[in-house]
Amino acid sequence: MSSPGAWQHTTVLLAEAIDALVTTPDGVYVDGTFGRGGHARALLARLSPRGRLIALDRDPQAVAAATTGDTRIEDARFSIHHTRFGAFADLLAALDVARIDGLLLDLGVSSPQIDDPARGFSFRFDGPLDMRMDPTRGESAADFLARADERHIAEVIKDYGEERFAVPVAKALVARREGGNPVRTTRELSEVVARAVKTREPGQDPATRTFQGLRIFVNAELEELEQGLSAAVQRLNSGGRLVVISFHSLEDRIVKTFIARESRSEVDRRAPFAPEKAHRLRSIGRVKPSDAEVRANPRARSAVMRVAERTEVAA
Ligand SMILES: C[S@@+](CC[C@H](N)C(=O)[O-])C[C@H]1O[C@@H](n2cnc3c(N)ncnc32)[C@H](O)[C@@H]1O
Repeated sequence: MSSPGAWQHTTVLLAEAIDALVTTPDGVYVDGTFGRGGHARALLARLSPRGRLIALDRDPQAVAAATTGDTRIEDARFSIHHTRFGAFADLLAALDVARIDGLLLDLGVSSPQIDDPARGFSFRFDGPLDMRMDPTRGESAADFLARADERHIAEVIKDYGEERFAVPVAKALVARREGGNPVRTTRELSEVVARAVKTREPGQDPATRTFQGLRIFVNAELEELEQGLSAAVQRLNSGGRLVVISFHSLEDRIVKTFIARESRSEVDRRAPFAPEKAHRLRSIGRVKPSDAEVRANPRARSAVMRVAERTEVAA
């Protein structure tokens, strides 16, 4: 069992994210990744009595933290919803909110998720191999490994984990399954991977990449990000901000490419004399945590925050 402190989450780029996000204290903001509410609380402190914060998280435990016990947030300007940020446009429609002034996405998993052995996210503890941020739906990592063919397993580990030894890992997993002993726990998976991965990266557990690949796949993290970004661009007010904190290059590449694409004007090749389609975003910048933050919170080491602003929205 982990220490009690491990159930807390140290928010990354706290002041930087709120400074970048809030353009009007009276605005409507969405926190798409509530976690334990580090950003949400700082955002509420920055808003006026007329401001509003719509928070969501796909993890029922995060939603419970916002609504029950010592951690609950009692504030008329705040609401929390159990849903995916990829579907936040549906949530806004249900709440009858047409446009927002900012969307914050602080991607990946929270410390309470990683540090709970029962969630199956970490090779540091033994637990059931689950890895779902929302355990009420979808397929666990163990169920995926119990049914998928070798090629599919190798693709997931290679494409989302960037693991060079994805094929030997997948072969070892399938051989074990065919021997009547499929992996069901994080420790079993770590052991199989450690035998199949032939070179060691300094300071990194050999299972790191395989765990990352399975987690991204099980939670459809990259698809979620793409859906959340395109909904954001449609829902932001003129001058509204998109703030995204990523923790690995696959996510950051999607955010960077999306902002670059939406920052260009486009000519319709089929109608060369039609007016250019105006760009919908303006890139504001890219921020990395300070050395002091990384020293205090090693999880911040790989964080990159990108900020973009919605250009004029047609009336
Ligand atoms: C890094 S933590 C956020 C921490 C938060 N900013 C804080 O300060 O406490 C990421 C959170 O986002 C949630 N999450 C990740 N992907 C999600 C998605 N597609 N939809 C909704 N929530 C998601 C996770 O369940 C987790 O609670």
